[in-house]
Amino acid sequence: MICGAGGQLGQKLIGAARLLEDVRIFAYSRSTLDITKPADLRAAFAEAKPDVCFNAAAYTAVDRAEAEPEKCRMVNVEGAQRLAAACYQKGIAFVHFSTDYVYADGYNRPLREDDSTSGTSVYARTKLEGENIVLKHHPDAYVVRTSWVYAEYGHNFVRTMLRLGAERDQLSIVADQIGSPTYAADLAAAALALMDAKAEPGVYNFANSGVCSWYDFAHAIFELSGTECALKPIRTEQYPTPAKRPSYSVLDTMKIAEVLGAAPRNWREALGECIGKV
Ligand SMILES: NC(=O)c1ccc[n+]([C@@H]2O[C@H](COP(=O)([O-])OP(=O)(O)OC[C@H]3O[C@@H](n4cnc5c(N)ncnc54)[C@H](OP(=O)(O)O)[C@@H]3O)[C@@H](O)[C@H]2O)c1
Repeated sequence: MICGAGGQLGQKLIGAARLLEDVRIFAYSRSTLDITKPADLRAAFAEAKPDVCFNAAAYTAVDRAEAEPEKCRMVNVEGAQRLAAACYQKGIAFVHFSTDYVYADGYNRPLREDDSTSGTSVYARTKLEGENIVLKHHPDAYVVRTSWVYAEYGHNFVRTMLRLGAERDQLSIVADQIGSPTYAADLAAAALALMDAKAEPGVYNFANSGVCSWYDFAHAIFELSGTECALKPIRTEQYPTPAKRPSYSVLDTMKIAEVLGAAPRNWREALGECIGKV
């Protein structure tokens, strides 16, 4: 059962699950299952009777969340709680997704699952609260933290850069925030592989390997797509946003790599595959 099936990750979970044998997929986008509505949840669980439920539904508009914290919390905390509790009560495995933003800022080495957490924006705080409430209501849940997610569809940095790069001669991009881009297809495959490997429940990081700034990421997007647009590196202060972003959010993926038997592939390779599909 896939909730939030209309999003980037949700669509990729459907694609990855279709490659498996003997699996029936019940995928619900927000129009058929609003995770904040108990009646929707009851109907979906009654129809799907799943063995495993993936929660790809989330309020992900990071800046808008600053102006509508309650709406954000409804989905990222209350919706997640309802799903986790329903799954635990019915003996269903539950996989929830979270973000690099939950880590405390100030680290300068890859972030490990047991590092300190905080949350400097409404979105980050609701995702952290969501993780905690999921694990409280479903102690055997999986929480997969990821970063800088993109796909060939949806709202993401890759598509924004391709659009702006076609419209403008020059773009200024933040070069002092460091992280790891994650292709939603790789994240979906890893989440399914966690289930297949019968991994220990708990928190796992997943991102493509390698490190870059948003400026480096934009550079690679233009290079791989053959976009002719000049790029200028700028500092975070020169591009103020309503929600504060972490300056360093590289995820250590050793834990999931050990379970899956391989490190995630490099972000540039994954980006190349995505750009080939845009
Ligand atoms: N995108 C990133 O860069 C990023 C980074 C780190 C972690 N994550 C996490 O990764 C997960 C997947 O994110 P994504 O990139 O796939 O996000 P996405 O493309 O924005 O997809 C989220 C989906 O959830 C749906 N949704 C919102 N409220 C809902 C509700 N009440 N009930 C059911 N569905 C609802 C949205 O529908 P509508 O479009 O109709 O609102 C959307 O289809 C999320 O947990 C997110 O927090 C994302």
